[in-house]
Amino acid sequence: MKKIVLTTILLTSALMAAPSNAVTKLSDETRNLFKAEMNFIKIGMDEILYNMIAGNDEKVQEIAGEIRDSFVFTKSLKPHNVKELQTLPKQFFVVDSELHGGASDLANAAEFNDKEGMQKNYFKMVNSCVQCHSTFATHRFTKFLEEE
Ligand code: HEC
Repeated sequence: MKKIVLTTILLTSALMAAPSNAVTKLSDETRNLFKAEMNFIKIGMDEILYNMIAGNDEKVQEIAGEIRDSFVFTKSLKPHNVKELQTLPKQFFVVDSELHGGASDLANAAEFNDKEGMQKNYFKMVNSCVQCHSTFATHRFTKFLEEE
């Protein structure tokens, strides 16, 4: 009986990612670059929402493309910043690639005026924000801790 309980606990904890504040251990320089990207993405998401409800697919395509290309590793990072970011947990990059993949799919959907695809991918992106913040940014968005 004990064995079954233990196995169940182990399985459950393997599925739930424990909150991690690994980002707070980065140097101020690297962390500020990362935060700047987050704020850039936040403004982009607001603008995409407005342009989606205004039927401006061309603008959605343009902004989603900018977010797709904003990946922290490809922009304004010096080798020492990259080295530091590589120390973050693997799960962080899994969610990060979901965000950028969502932006890429959203840009494609907008190019073909596929409204349903645009909404689907916009919310895929929103989901990645929530998933990552509730795991790696609970020091910044503390409400996620209260929910447990
Ligand atoms: C792969 C993980 C990840 C994804 C995906 C992600 N974020 Fe973040 N975000 C973080 C982390 C970690 C912080 C906290 C940074 C810190 O405290 O240094 C943060 C902080 C922020 C901040 C606050 C920045 C500041 O100046 O304090 C904003 C705004 C933000 N994110 C917006 C978004 C939006 C909008 C999305 C989705 C479109 C998103 N993020 C997706 C990890 C992520």
